[in-house]
Amino acid sequence: MAVFTQATDAYWMPFTPNRAFKKNPRILTAARGMYYETIGGQKILDGCAGLWCVNAGHANQKINHAIKAQLDRMSYSPAFQLGHNLAFEFAERLADLFPGDLNHVFFTNSGSESVETALKIARAYHQANGNAQKLKFIGRERGYHGVNIGGLSVGGIMANRQAFGPLLPEVDHLPHTHDLAKNAFSKGQPETGADKADRLFDLIALHGAHTIAAVIVEPMAGSTGVLIPPKGYLEKLRKICNDHDILLIFDEVITAFGRLGDSCAAAALQVQPDLMTLAKGLTNGAVPMGAVMISDKIHDAMMSGPENSVELFHGYTCSGHPLACAAGLASLDVYAEEALFSRANDLAPYWQNAIHSLGCHDHVIDVRNIGLVGAIELEPRVGAPGMRAYEAYLKAFESGLLVRTTGDIIALSPPLIISTEQIDFIVHILNDVLKTLK
Ligand SMILES: Cc1ncc(COP(=O)(O)O)c(C=O)c1O
Repeated sequence: MAVFTQATDAYWMPFTPNRAFKKNPRILTAARGMYYETIGGQKILDGCAGLWCVNAGHANQKINHAIKAQLDRMSYSPAFQLGHNLAFEFAERLADLFPGDLNHVFFTNSGSESVETALKIARAYHQANGNAQKLKFIGRERGYHGVNIGGLSVGGIMANRQAFGPLLPEVDHLPHTHDLAKNAFSKGQPETGADKADRLFDLIALHGAHTIAAVIVEPMAGSTGVLIPPKGYLEKLRKICNDHDILLIFDEVITAFGRLGDSCAAAALQVQPDLMTLAKGLTNGAVPMGAVMISDKIHDAMMSGPENSVELFHGYTCSGHPLACAAGLASLDVYAEEALFSRANDLAPYWQNAIHSLGCHDHVIDVRNIGLVGAIELEPRVGAPGMRAYEAYLKAFESGLLVRTTGDIIALSPPLIISTEQIDFIVHILNDVLKTLK
């Protein structure tokens, strides 16, 4: 059994209590299919697809081969004023995959960068249309849109924002949609809460539609602990945005690529955004990459001015990176060949029954699910919010299951290759954990 002897001081870990972690590090050494292996040789079932990204499972051989082959052919190509075949091919494939007229792709390197890019495109679009006053963004309480300043500003998670001083001033927020009093233990989309979208009317009345560029929401809020949109809610947002020339951005960084049983939440829930942000499952997490899908309306409005002028002064050194494109194209092949989106859809009823069986335990105040996503919300301990779920996280890990927790919510989002036996294993471990939780 290998032992971890590496010095840990230099590496400042993201979104991690560094000092506590380094006293008792959890170190992974390998991953394949549904499982990690720890340095101690323990097998851990991945209940969250990495960080919601490894939809086709770990170390998929087809994706790995595509990356290795591209590595020897061309490991970098400048993104500005030069192109390579894979970037164009990948963009065409994505345009074919997603619904409606989301026919254009801007490549980034992460979900956070995709959000910043989408916000900038929204402003630039209105300016190109002669509506330069349309600058404001409407986000939502409890929303997560990455960690850059634009995304933090439209985001609504206090802990992520509070240390960083004034954020963008031109931002307001819708209320979140979580309502335990009315919707606890809902299966799929909650019945009530569509009216929360009407708050957009109040924000329009307050600021004026002529000042609002875009509304940005996660169609299903993930990082805050899985908040599933009430029936009719997204449809309402869409209609109000249409009526006021406000763009609707869906942040689909975690919901795209099969998580809800279709190519994206927009397809699964039948509501069409104007812009859609992607990352994570875009390359099955194998190479960092993000993207923004852009509708014809926005793209065409921006393709104006002299032909030799840059239409959008924006881009990244590694936009459309060849290794990421190779990984992305292979991921799309794997998703299609293994029919992973419909697999997620087919497994969803089994998943729903399995995780709702956990609702019987003390301290469980909600179980919710959609597609291959689930959440178990625990009653916070008085004076120690988050501790109950954190203990559940540690106990599950010791028993061979990786879950994710936010506050007192346990979130589950396994790779889409999961079997029913592995779903049973998740429930078995969580049953044991919840039974012993004080
Ligand atoms: C909805 C959403 N947007 C943006 C991001 C940020 O993505 P990244 O961590 O790749 O920057 C995340 C990450 O979890 C996310 O869930």
